[in-house]
Amino acid sequence: MERIEQIKKVLAERFATLELKSDILKAKELRELYGEIPKLPVEERGAFGQAVNVLRIELETMVRDAEASAESASLSSVDVTAPFDINATQPKLLPTSQGTTHPLMQEIERIVDIFGRMGFVSEESREIDDQYHMFETLNFPKGHPARDEWDTFMTVQTDKDGDPLIAPAHTSTMQNRILHKYSANLEKGEPIAAIVPDRTFRNEDLDARHEHTFYQVEGIYVSKNVNAGMLVATLKKFLEEYYGKALEVRVNPFYFPFTEPSFEFALSCPFCEKKGCGICSQSGWIELLGCGMIHPNVLKAADIDPNVYTGFAFGCGVDRLVMMKNDIEDIRHFQSAKLDFLRQF
Ligand code: FA5
Repeated sequence: MERIEQIKKVLAERFATLELKSDILKAKELRELYGEIPKLPVEERGAFGQAVNVLRIELETMVRDAEASAESASLSSVDVTAPFDINATQPKLLPTSQGTTHPLMQEIERIVDIFGRMGFVSEESREIDDQYHMFETLNFPKGHPARDEWDTFMTVQTDKDGDPLIAPAHTSTMQNRILHKYSANLEKGEPIAAIVPDRTFRNEDLDARHEHTFYQVEGIYVSKNVNAGMLVATLKKFLEEYYGKALEVRVNPFYFPFTEPSFEFALSCPFCEKKGCGICSQSGWIELLGCGMIHPNVLKAADIDPNVYTGFAFGCGVDRLVMMKNDIEDIRHFQSAKLDFLRQF
């Protein structure tokens, strides 16, 4: 019996080191003990055989316990209560890719980075705004004929003056808020320098260059002695940094109620090299942005003295910027949700 106790100790030590715990039941010591039973005197056989059986049952219990605790260690608490074989139904991700950032968002990050390095902070716009920010603060008083030129979407809900709310047709709706928010910069002798990249909406006839929902990036810069040369230099620098090369840019005089003078920037059409094609409406140029020196009335609406401070603003179509960078021939691809288009970015 003492021998059985010794063997039990040896087997318990070995059990702790075994990877496959059930191998302990095949131990040669256990086989030898069973082999000894028939060789014993008859009167000793019963007690000896019973002690060997007790040892085997103890070893079997140890194996079962070890296997059960290994299984529960691999399960989460939710799995343990699941009424099915969790090991067979563990969730597995599909082997395909799980999606990427939309190309316009990737490019907006680049735009924010470039302007950030030029000292511009970035702010968000809104998806519904009031007529005060869409028109009044931008020098379109009530009844101004230019209000009708903006192809806006309006809601049945109205603002406090009873006017319909508007899905902003441009990011310029944020100019007044930005000027107010950062006006303390001017008192400290620092400029107001902000961009607003966000979504805009227009009731448009759709074609390769025109979407009803697209992105603009607004730029606002106000300080003392700001002039139009600084506006053109800032935009050229941005565009060269963004496209990574020198560009052919055309600057034409234009009209916006909120800037004076106003300009329009166009880039030479990359699809036809200025020969004229369907994408640029045979003109050889693609209009990229509107800009100008901030109108004194816009500064006054934000309580900034136009006799002391001047500034410039611009609004650039992000979709068009990206189209021209990547030779995308139709703006409508961006919102098409076509995976073979999106997977290229
Ligand atoms: C404006 O929206 C002015 N707010 C820009 C501005 C800001 C002027 C600050 C002065 C000072 P415009 O309507 O031209 O301007 O639009 C600006 C740019 O948005 C266009 O040059 C074009 O790149 C883009 N854009 C306009 N309409 C669409 C459209 N339907 N689809 C795609 N891009 C468009």
